[in-house]
Amino acid sequence: MPNIVVVGTQWGDEGKGKIVDLLTAQAQVVVRYQGGNNAGHTLVVGQEKFIFHLIPSGILHDGTLCLIGNGVVLDPEVLLAEIDRLQSRGIAVGPENLRISERTQVIMPYHRRLDVAREEARGVGRIGTTGRGIGPCYEDKAARRGIRMADLVNPEILRAKVWEVLPEKNFLLEKWLGAEPFRPEDILEPYQEMGQRLKALLANVSVLLNNAARDGQNILFEGAQGTHLDIDHGTYPFVTSSNPVAGGASIGTGLGPRQLHHILGIVKAYTTRVGGGPFPTECLDEVGTHLQKEGMEFGSTTGRPRRCGWLDLVVLKEAVRLNGLTGLAITKLDVLTTLNPVKICVAYEVDGTRRDSMPATLAELERCRPVFEELPGWQADLRGVRRFADLPAATQNYLRRVEELAGVPIQIISVGPEREETVIIQNPFQG
Ligand code: IMP
Repeated sequence: MPNIVVVGTQWGDEGKGKIVDLLTAQAQVVVRYQGGNNAGHTLVVGQEKFIFHLIPSGILHDGTLCLIGNGVVLDPEVLLAEIDRLQSRGIAVGPENLRISERTQVIMPYHRRLDVAREEARGVGRIGTTGRGIGPCYEDKAARRGIRMADLVNPEILRAKVWEVLPEKNFLLEKWLGAEPFRPEDILEPYQEMGQRLKALLANVSVLLNNAARDGQNILFEGAQGTHLDIDHGTYPFVTSSNPVAGGASIGTGLGPRQLHHILGIVKAYTTRVGGGPFPTECLDEVGTHLQKEGMEFGSTTGRPRRCGWLDLVVLKEAVRLNGLTGLAITKLDVLTTLNPVKICVAYEVDGTRRDSMPATLAELERCRPVFEELPGWQADLRGVRRFADLPAATQNYLRRVEELAGVPIQIISVGPEREETVIIQNPFQG
């Protein structure tokens, strides 16, 4: 005890990976609850670089049990490649440290092809998906024709399901989208084989988590993407197809909501977005270039450059409310160094009216103009700082203002990419 949910408060890429890595040291169980290999983070441990898309980075810690919950969409090819890469570097992966829910939905090759072909067909209105088949897989889940991990490992059920769904997929691919169809035999053999390789990892994740909670273990819920990419609460339709918000942690794993004790919101000290969609504080000037360059803002999954802009407190306050945040972790604060002034968007102005929450329609969102508050910047390098009191006065002032506007305490501050480049004000596992 306690259990912590780590959620992104913006549009993903807030630097959750580093914070999750820090907290994992004190967790016995780490669990993914939504999304799939549209997520990605890079971890540098000593001289070695690891890239994770599906498996929690907790796999690098001895004695940590990593779980993939039912809310995730899992591409078995990607998972097996990730397992192989880890094993080739001497990290053992097996049922003792990785378990997958039997109820997890499987991303099939037709999901990937549909994702890419649909995006092409959308033309200028494209969402900018990662092309990993995420949306089409969640569509099948909701349409009750999805293939789950328990089906993948059963050759007969897999055969029956593939034969059932393929005619419709092929019709869409061929007749509607002008893409190549699939033959059942192209899919069956490799997927049956992958199912057999993954069989030993299947488990009832809900039971495992409930037992861990009963035994007083620390559980860390690792959110992917961010609050404003949430299918219900985000900037629809420029969203992903799952629920990154904290409530998704319960649905996506099978542990009741009363067991989610702390909700830590990860806030990048500025804002980024990959793909299309409204972004009121986007900077298309030299500030945007500074943030992109200093923050190395290129996607770890697709390599696309990220759009950059000032910190948006309207976005953050929505995240506080939607997730019930109990603490904040501010990341990449060092990237703001040398910018002067530093700006925070405190409200929007739409058609001459000030508003403090995000409108539900795209048309209104696109008309939102940021109302900025300007604060003095700082010149000093922050990367060596380990205590709040040692930060420059202007940096402290900026953080206090963010905290005051958000109404939630800042618990962790990241001042550089390395594990130790961190100021811990309050460790959420200790209170
Ligand atoms: P999808 O999740 O691939 O369907 O993509 C839908 C939208 O979510 C696109 O704008 C993607 O760029 C965005 N997205 C998905 N995963 C991530 C992520 O991990 N970080 C940032 N954006 C993401």
